[in-house]
This record gives sequence, C-alpha cells and structure tokens, in this order.
Amino acid sequence: MYHEIDLDKIDRNSEPPTEEPARQYYFMAKCREWVREFEQKHGRRPCFFAQTFGCQMNARDTEKLAGILQLVGFEETADEQADFVVYNTCTVRENANNRVYGRLGYLHNLKKKRPGMRIALCGCMMQEPGVIEKLKKSYRFVNLVFGTHNIYKFAELLAECCETEQMVVDVWEASDQIVEDLPVQRKYPFKSGVNIMFGCNNFCSYCIVPYVRGREKSREPKEILREIEKLTADGVVEVMLLGQNVNSYGRTFQPPVTFANLLEEVEKIEGLSRIRFMTSHPKDLSDELIAVMARSKKICRHLHLPLQSGSTRILQAMNRHYSKETYLTLVEKVRKAIPDLAITTDIIVGFPGETEEDFQETMDVVKRVGFDSAFTFIYSPRSNTPAAAIKEQVPEEIVKDRFDRLLTSVQEIAAQKAQKLTGSVQKVLVECVNDHDASLVTGKLDNNSTVHLPGGAELIGRIIDVRLEECRGFYYYGKQMIG
Ligand code: 5AD
Ligand code: SF4
Repeated sequence: MYHEIDLDKIDRNSEPPTEEPARQYYFMAKCREWVREFEQKHGRRPCFFAQTFGCQMNARDTEKLAGILQLVGFEETADEQADFVVYNTCTVRENANNRVYGRLGYLHNLKKKRPGMRIALCGCMMQEPGVIEKLKKSYRFVNLVFGTHNIYKFAELLAECCETEQMVVDVWEASDQIVEDLPVQRKYPFKSGVNIMFGCNNFCSYCIVPYVRGREKSREPKEILREIEKLTADGVVEVMLLGQNVNSYGRTFQPPVTFANLLEEVEKIEGLSRIRFMTSHPKDLSDELIAVMARSKKICRHLHLPLQSGSTRILQAMNRHYSKETYLTLVEKVRKAIPDLAITTDIIVGFPGETEEDFQETMDVVKRVGFDSAFTFIYSPRSNTPAAAIKEQVPEEIVKDRFDRLLTSVQEIAAQKAQKLTGSVQKVLVECVNDHDASLVTGKLDNNSTVHLPGGAELIGRIIDVRLEECRGFYYYGKQMIG
C-alpha cells in the first residue's frame, strides 16, 4: 500500500514522477523537507487546522487533506490559530458561501498577527467561476485555492504554496481521473466514510452539485473492497458508502456492476458489523437493492430517501423523475420488505412557482410516510441552475411561514415515531463521551438515532445492547444491558 511508503527514502532531487500517486508522494517528501526546515527555525512543528463546511463527501475529503498534512509532519490544532488553515467549502445553498466569506474576514485578522500563516480554500464553492474572481480581487491574503477535481494534487499544491507568497490558484473544470492510495486521517477509529462514486448526472433543476462535482464516476469495486478490508483490519466496524446517488453506482462499467452487487460483496467482509450508505435517489432505487437490504445482516435499517417536494408538478419542474404517487408506492414497497426500516428525507420549501396547494402536497406526503427525521431547506437560487432563472420566485415571508409549518409537522411526527422504540433493547455503536456530561457516552442505533447512556470511554467503538429508557423527541436516554 502506498501510504506505508517511507517518504524519507524518496529522492527529492530527481524530477517528479509523472504517474499518480507516486507524484504526490514525491511532493509529500518535499513538504516534509519544508516542515523540517520550519522546525529548525521555530523550534516546533508547524500546525494545521482543517474544517469541513458541508456534506459527508466533503468531510471525507477533509480527512484526506488532514492525512497528507499529518504524514508530512504538521500537527493538528483545534482552531484557526495555526500555520496552515484549510477550509473545505460547500456551495449547495447561498448561506454556505456566506459563512465562508464571514470566516475569511476573521482569518485575515489572524494572519496579520501570525506572519507566515497560510490560508487554503478548496471544495465545491471554488468550482464557481464568480467565487474565484471575487477571491482574486478582494481576498488576496488567501494563499491557495483548488477545487473538487484536483484534490488528489493537494501535496503538490501544498509544496508550491509553501515556497511562494503569491496566491496559487488551480481549479479544473472536469476530470475523469480517480487517484487511489493516498493517505487518510480518520476522525473516528471505529467508523469511516468510503467514497464509492464521485459527481452526479441528475441535474435536478435547483442543484449546483453536477456543475461543481462533475459527471458521475464510480470507483472500481476491487478498490472499494480493498479499502474496506484495510479499514476493518484497522478496527473499523461501520462504514458509510458515499456518493451523490449511490443507486446508480457502477452503471458505466463494462459489464455493469450494480450498487446491490457491491453491497453483497461488502457484506462478506469479516469484522465489519454495520454498513450504511448515502444518498439514494428514489428514481433509481431498484427491487434488487431492496431485496439485498432485506436479506442483509449488516446493512443498517435506515434509508435516506430525499423527497424534495410532495407535489408532482414541482417534482417535474425539479427534474426529479418521479411523482408523489410513485414516491409513496416506493416507500410502501420498501416498508413491506423491511418493516423496521427508518426512512429519512430532504425537503426543499419555496421552489420557484410553489403554491400553497403544492406545499400541502408536501405536508401530505410527510404525514403519510411518517419520516423518522427530515432535513428541511429553504430554496436557495444557485448560479447557472435552471431553477434560478425561473421568474416566479416565492416571496420570503411565504417561504418562511411554510418552512415553519413543515418543521413543526416533521418534528411532531419524528417524535411520535421515536417514542415507539422506548422500552426496547437495541444495538448501539458507542461513538464518544457525551459533550455535556462526562458520565455519559453517546452512540447510534442501527436506525441512526442518537442515544445517551451512563458509561466511560472504554465503551467507544463497541456495539452494545442498550435498553431505551426515555425518549426526548429525537434522541434517547438508555442503559447498557449486561449479560
Ligand atoms: N436550495 C435549497 N436546498 C437545496 N438542496 C440542494 N440544492 C438546494 C438549493 N438550491 C438540498 C436538497 C439536497 C440536499 C443535500 O440539499 O434537499 O437533497
Ligand atoms: Fe443535486 Fe439532484 Fe444530484 Fe442530489 S441527485 S446532487 S439533488 S443534482
């Protein structure tokens, strides 16, 4: 495996290799040299801070950045008082961009007091041309800007950024390359995200993701399985298979491989106890996948199935390729095959042209499905998406009112659903000591709900039986069952 390579044995004076990932390991060796010089000059190692804005795919990418920084000798810090700060940005809604600009003002002040500090920005927001122009014009103190397609080149960009005071900008429009075997620093020793595919081909009319993440590319099954085998050998018991639309995994392979096929192979990996995945598009959820989930001993009883809207008219305008009825039929079919399945969703309120009647259709689906939880979003126009060009944007007060009504309904229903498990004994993967009360630990049920229970750090990473004693809306208090 590449990440077991000894960087000190790489000849840094030769020309950089042209093939990947060897080229990146060469630049990691260069960066390590820079770190050593820093250490000699300052009497300490340089430190870094890496922050994710956005989804689990971004979080996984940040682990890759952190993996490289650690391997070359940087130490991680808990906040932006660091020599190297990297923000892995999101742009799915406008407020994600605003948060980054807000943080940049703060970083600028820090940098004035900390000579030599380097600031890097990467991720989805950097794929928007307008953003790059704005950074070049008004945020000259940023040292490094790169995008989603060349994140694997981070070591090379870091080496360049360490050697110059100029702003380094490297953003690609597209790439069909997937570079395997780069280092990763995992946030949790017992669970891990695993990318199975990148990009999206769906072009939902409100969504910027296909523009910033590019076309769908699946990783080879053998690479995915090798990664998971390695993770389980390292103590990982739960994996989350990640993709924008996992249900269309493997379609481009010859012969095609389905997501259900992949899951069956992952299931066979010894030492792995739980398999999760995200996100499923309702239009591609196959009977084969439902059958595999129903048979599986490891796939968690949780399906995230974004609805977006309950109105067939709006779904059409969103380019979602399903109707209210087909969504409801799908839910019925999945529930019949897997009765204890938790279903969660994403809903957008205030899509252009949404009327009160359309909104009532959404409320109706929410009631009829009874989601175990739902992420609710106010529609945010994104540059160059078809929906942003629609004239009839819904007035803000109306959207806000609908959003509040939806949230109340979603929360009531989720609380009723959660209540049903009170008193039962469930398997819980303990994840951490509770943030607010150190006598408790916090873990996750198979269905993804959170539970707090008395216990110590020795339980972290273990799957234990817990009686759910009290339900507080969407989380529980429980007690470990021993024996
Ligand atoms: N406005 C609001 N919400 C959006 N999402 C995607 N694009 C937008 C947008 N322009 C939501 C969808 C998606 C989730 C990740 O973000 O609900 O499922
Ligand atoms: Fe965006 Fe639709 Fe692709 Fe999800 S499936 S990332 S909402 S375009």
